[in-house]
Amino acid sequence: MYTLYDWTIIDDDGQAVLENGNRLLIGNGYMAKRGTVEEADPPCMPAIILGGVYDKHGDRWREPVNAPDPLFTVLSLDGIPFTLAGENLSTHTQSLNFRYGVYSRKTTWNTKDAHLTVSTERFASMDDIHLLCMKYTVSADAPVSPRVEIHINTDVCDLNGPHLGDFRFEVKGQTRTLICETLEKKIPIALANGIEGGSLSSIIEENRSSYLLDLDGSNPVELFVFGTIWTGLDADDPLENVEKSVLRAKKAGWDCLLAEHKAKWDEIWRIGDVVIKGDDYAQRALRYSLYHLHIIAPRHKRRCGNFSIPARGLSGQTYKGAVFWDTEMFMAPYFLATEPELVAQFIRYRIETLPGARRKAVEYGLRGAFFAWESQETGDDACTDFNVTDVFTGRPVRTYFRDKQVHISADIVLAVKRYVDATGDFSILKEGGLELILEVARFYLSSIYYSPERKRYEALDVVGPDEYHERVNNNAFTNRMILMVFETALTTISLLKEKDAIFIEALMAKLNFSEDFAFMQAVMPCFYVPQPNEQGVIEQFDGYFRLEDCSLDVVRSRLKDPKEYWGGGNGVASTTRIIKQADVVTMLALFGDEYSTFVKKANLAFYEPRTEHGSSLSACMYALLACETGGSDWAYPFFIKNAEMDIAGKGKHFAGLVYIGGTHPAANGGAWLTAIHGFCGFSLKNNKIQVTPRLPSHWQEVMFRVLLPDGLHEVTVTRDRWDEKVRGQNV
Ligand code: BGC
Repeated sequence: MYTLYDWTIIDDDGQAVLENGNRLLIGNGYMAKRGTVEEADPPCMPAIILGGVYDKHGDRWREPVNAPDPLFTVLSLDGIPFTLAGENLSTHTQSLNFRYGVYSRKTTWNTKDAHLTVSTERFASMDDIHLLCMKYTVSADAPVSPRVEIHINTDVCDLNGPHLGDFRFEVKGQTRTLICETLEKKIPIALANGIEGGSLSSIIEENRSSYLLDLDGSNPVELFVFGTIWTGLDADDPLENVEKSVLRAKKAGWDCLLAEHKAKWDEIWRIGDVVIKGDDYAQRALRYSLYHLHIIAPRHKRRCGNFSIPARGLSGQTYKGAVFWDTEMFMAPYFLATEPELVAQFIRYRIETLPGARRKAVEYGLRGAFFAWESQETGDDACTDFNVTDVFTGRPVRTYFRDKQVHISADIVLAVKRYVDATGDFSILKEGGLELILEVARFYLSSIYYSPERKRYEALDVVGPDEYHERVNNNAFTNRMILMVFETALTTISLLKEKDAIFIEALMAKLNFSEDFAFMQAVMPCFYVPQPNEQGVIEQFDGYFRLEDCSLDVVRSRLKDPKEYWGGGNGVASTTRIIKQADVVTMLALFGDEYSTFVKKANLAFYEPRTEHGSSLSACMYALLACETGGSDWAYPFFIKNAEMDIAGKGKHFAGLVYIGGTHPAANGGAWLTAIHGFCGFSLKNNKIQVTPRLPSHWQEVMFRVLLPDGLHEVTVTRDRWDEKVRGQNV
């Protein structure tokens, strides 16, 4: 059972091994290590996921690489290893300090002569992203001589692997190295570990060090293990780099490395922290959510190009380690306010993957840029046509996320628009941002249809955010987003024309965009966006109101298996008005200025009871809209649901038979969105902060910071006032 304290989460029974792997995750944007014990075997899903390194095994799903573990350590006595499953287990606690990203565990076993305790601490250095550090302490209350073995463990757990081969170990003094390579692209992965720890007698074999500890019953023995990882994507000679990194780490030592790591975290929190007065639980849960965003934020410069954040962060291989709309729509707003350079990096990643988006459009007989629903390093779509498995037949089910969830391209354009609006940084537009916008506009121009009867352009055969209803016509959210793309293309062109007419001319010529431009102008006045009915409710898509209107409970009662997929051809929700996640409500939350309070309230009241919230992307959109209509207290449970998503670990673990567990960065970002955009009513326009306080009734004050070109702004919001101080020059 876990307990959440200020900056610490503690689990005291170790039962929920898979949940703890997520809950106690540490990371630094380059890699993340799951919160499993040092001796964990593959069924416990231990993992060190490397951001942006993918591999495909045979015809299985392409997924991120789980690296060998350079900190793998086993304690044994008389040849019998100590494990959490052993009958001799006495006590076990694990915890995470989420101010500094330090994982700890303390486990005691009974032996016939003594109680033997292992205490460890480890962190993924924020200062040297290639470095993992561990302090491994063994103590006993009576003399006993256990053995400690430290490996670079290649027995990794893969969902669709194995992914690595050609393992070559080497020993140089107290440093072991391993070089191996991925199977598909032959990317070299190098690891090393080095051990420090007094004058221990050890046996060193090619991939393991074995220490016999003579514990005297009072003095503990401390071992320090430094593990480093470099790949061929980071350097020409990753092996040389891992060796150098380990030597540097050993020389610096644990205390110094920990201090450097903490200093980086202090800097992160100096800008990124949020302080809530009047609600300790919300404070802790929100900070915990922000921690999870920081450990997966790719701050480092990669020589192989920019990278973004996958939907399950770096917590494992689920969702193929792919980048979805989650990043642009749910995570980017936090970073836009606190580290806009990261948002620029997300956008650059999309610019670099434009060729993949163009290939995908061609594949479907379309033009322009159709971004991958599940994007990996090349931008080719990792999403397959068959994404879930039918629980009854074991057969793959055809899903249409890949080919029909066309809003993904518009979501990316919205992020570019928001970035430019908020920062005034036009350079990104010239570095490919405008090309991206125009190519997305072109994609929609090539995919919409004209209805001569209705005299309007429509978007047919799509999947909106609510994935349970596939292949629908005129999904209100999708249509409004498409129109936003056209609007953004027009305004950005005219804006840049004023600044650099030659650039615009050259780009239009390069893309041969003149005809598209004229067509876009003709389409815009007659592009259809579904409007509210007399009751103020917007129909989610054509014919939605004709579907069976039954309650969530009724739909749930029709399930024949708890793991059954609710959507698609045979799903229990497909023939009903029950939706998976915020859809119309997402549109209203994004385009709030265009709709009246009456319409917002009507849609909240209509859609919320019909929403399963089967996705972690749902709650925050309801909460945001509710805050706008005076419903902050109503929104509060939605905020908590998002903020504690990875604490409670109650998110869905299966879609059909496919394992989808992991952390939920979109919910983490959604918690910040609700607290700051929702409860504080914050928005950013042309580098100016605007605030409309609407805190939940038990909150007294919220403090957050926003990084603008003129410095760090500290905003304090109380129930009826707000105040802004500039705290220093840009960092
Ligand atoms: C949701 C999508 C989301 C994806 C990744 C799905 O369950 O329906 O909206 O992008 O998960 O988080």
